[in-house]
Amino acid sequence: MSSTSEDRQQDDRIVVLDFGGQYTHLITRRLRDIGAYAELIPADKIQQKDLNCAGLILSGGPRSVGKVDAIEIPDFLQQFIISENRSVPILGICYGHQLLGYLTGGNIAHSDNREYGGHLITALSKSSLIPIADSFLTWMSHGDHVESVGDGFTVTYQSDNCPVAAMENVDMQLYGIQFHPEVTHTKHGYEILQNFVSSICHIATKEWDIQRYADDLIVQLREEIGNKQVILGVSGGVDSTVAAILLQQAIGDRLHAVFVDHGLLRKNEVEEVVRYFEDDLDIEHFHLIDASQQFLINLSGINDPERKREIIGHTFIEVFEAKALQLTEEYGKIELLGQGTIYSDRIESGAVGAESEKIKSHHNLTLPEKMGLEVIEPLKDLYKDEVRKLGRILGVPEEILSRYPFPGPGLAVRIIGEITKERLDILREADDIFTSMIYEENLDHLAWQAFAALLPIKATGVQGDNRAYGYIIALRSITSAEGMTADFSKFSWDFLGRVSTKIINSLPEVTRVVYDISTKPPGTIEFE
Ligand code: XMP
Repeated sequence: MSSTSEDRQQDDRIVVLDFGGQYTHLITRRLRDIGAYAELIPADKIQQKDLNCAGLILSGGPRSVGKVDAIEIPDFLQQFIISENRSVPILGICYGHQLLGYLTGGNIAHSDNREYGGHLITALSKSSLIPIADSFLTWMSHGDHVESVGDGFTVTYQSDNCPVAAMENVDMQLYGIQFHPEVTHTKHGYEILQNFVSSICHIATKEWDIQRYADDLIVQLREEIGNKQVILGVSGGVDSTVAAILLQQAIGDRLHAVFVDHGLLRKNEVEEVVRYFEDDLDIEHFHLIDASQQFLINLSGINDPERKREIIGHTFIEVFEAKALQLTEEYGKIELLGQGTIYSDRIESGAVGAESEKIKSHHNLTLPEKMGLEVIEPLKDLYKDEVRKLGRILGVPEEILSRYPFPGPGLAVRIIGEITKERLDILREADDIFTSMIYEENLDHLAWQAFAALLPIKATGVQGDNRAYGYIIALRSITSAEGMTADFSKFSWDFLGRVSTKIINSLPEVTRVVYDISTKPPGTIEFE
């Protein structure tokens, strides 16, 4: 993070070279949790000066080392890796491990069959990188593997499918592991990274100082914005609310917070957001725009999820542009567009990293390009839980911070198929019943995010003495650390049964309630 980098010595830093793995950003995240300063650099953008660091990590990636599609790395990096005089320890993970093997005389076996999931690895000899356990569960995701190692290397762990699950050459300070220590499924992953940082790179870790981070960020925003005016879309969610408070503290009344009611919000959300921004937060220029009709008209007849997201994005632009124009007439030119984009939004949209795949387009990332406004994203380097911590020290009330994440396109991504007013009203009600019951029964510790979705296929039921034909409501509740992976919440059958009864009794249009028990991956959290 830039604000902490200034007071860090260059040689305190760990550089993570990104070869395009899906989990690469989690490496920097774990290092930050450990208290080390880490910088993520796409492998093809590395410069000589970046190697002036305390440790280098080579990430995983989808390519094959030594094959034509391998990522080309410059000569100076290759020389650096194989140099006998280098003082910087290097840790290769997955692709990075294979690259180390390849460059130091080992053999790489290529295979088209990818191996995913949990694998037990077993110690073959003492390891300075993994002085932890003889045998433990690791998370693997690879096709190729290191088959044999070069001179000077010791194979420290193996698995059934992987003869070299971990290797090291302590004299050359080279360490390679086939598994991913950065994902929580790997049993001792955190400790392995911690050991690399402290015992191998000798970095003195320090706890992330959130107050200092907030102070630095506000100063930085003041400098960046100068005396310009900023328009910021707020939704009442954690991210945009924290972004609004930061901007308010940085530039005061030159912030225009605009809340667009797109008609895709949850029950009572509009009233709650308006009350908070106008009364509690006292933002001088807070503007509510009721554009629900415009959104509903533009979305009518649209079934395709990506098309829905596009339409919502475009309609936002129309509404925002009109407002920016009006505000410019009233207050002078608006030049900057503030956004509450956080790190995981950028990853999933393919906006960060060497070549990680785009999962879905987040509408808030396509907005600025079309608007001719310069973008300012105060939270772009933070994960959700860090945004919450930041909000807490900035005085954001707990009820806002503990709200479930809510996507920009709102309920539109929770109604499969066409969006209609009827479907939105039903979904709003079902969602409110489910989430309120979670809170009332003190089960919120089981839910990182919870909501209802509407499946537009109809199923038969009996209501009173009559045959009924109604919608299916799907309940989704997950546990997660960062929203990047998720497991479903293990509520009791009794609780789920009572939620189902209440929804069906309250909503005659609904005949079935189902509980989603899929994980992410392979599912996603939202339905579309
Ligand atoms: P998925 O469905 O991708 O969701 O597993 C991961 C997290 O991101 C939220 N999400 C969004 N947030 N704009 C947003 O601001 C979006 O378009 C969007 N789509 C998903 C989702 O609620 C979950 O917390």
